[in-house]
Amino acid sequence: MSDIPFKNPGWAGNTGEFDLSEEEVRGEDFVGTRPVHGGHASGAGTMPYMLAKKDPEGVLFEGEYRERLDKILSRYPTGQAALLPALGLCQEIRGYVSPESMDAVAEVLDLSPAYVRGVATFYTMYNKRPVGKHLVQVCTNISCNLAGADEVVDAFLTYTDTELGQTSEDGNFTVIEAECLAACGFPTCVQINSRYFENVTPAEVPKICEHLKSERE
Ligand code: FES
Repeated sequence: MSDIPFKNPGWAGNTGEFDLSEEEVRGEDFVGTRPVHGGHASGAGTMPYMLAKKDPEGVLFEGEYRERLDKILSRYPTGQAALLPALGLCQEIRGYVSPESMDAVAEVLDLSPAYVRGVATFYTMYNKRPVGKHLVQVCTNISCNLAGADEVVDAFLTYTDTELGQTSEDGNFTVIEAECLAACGFPTCVQINSRYFENVTPAEVPKICEHLKSERE
């Protein structure tokens, strides 16, 4: 972990009065240590869907990921019911869900490609094109907007030298706007990969980005 001080990383509704690390709040089992096969079947479908490590050419349903898919399937009565976590698995491996990935999911779940595409393109949480190591989703819905979310978006775009939806030249960041992230009491809320940052102000944006880079290193 970086020793850069954080006012409010947003884990478990941290309001800035506490100085807890992510490990302390979520438990060390969760932080970067859970296996790709998902552990027990009850947790196999609930892994973070956006990891920093992404392989756009990654093999989808082999080895430990096949094991993971089988565990997901064991929890649902039909392949159709397992469609969302299966798409999530594709995104976890490749960072986005391409038309080819959708076809692969259709085949493995015995569904029509048209049905899978209809579902995958309905949900905004499935990326339809590659994204950076850190997908920065800034909530610009009403509570966050009133608290200055537009300025937070601008600060991220300025720091990363990108436009909305564009990936930074170093491949580290893609910044997009998001609808309500269900943390309206802590505006502005920003979801970066699977992690929430709450009460974010424009001034904190460089510190957050530097923190993410230092974690990776
Ligand atoms: S409006 Fe931003 S989290 Fe709800």
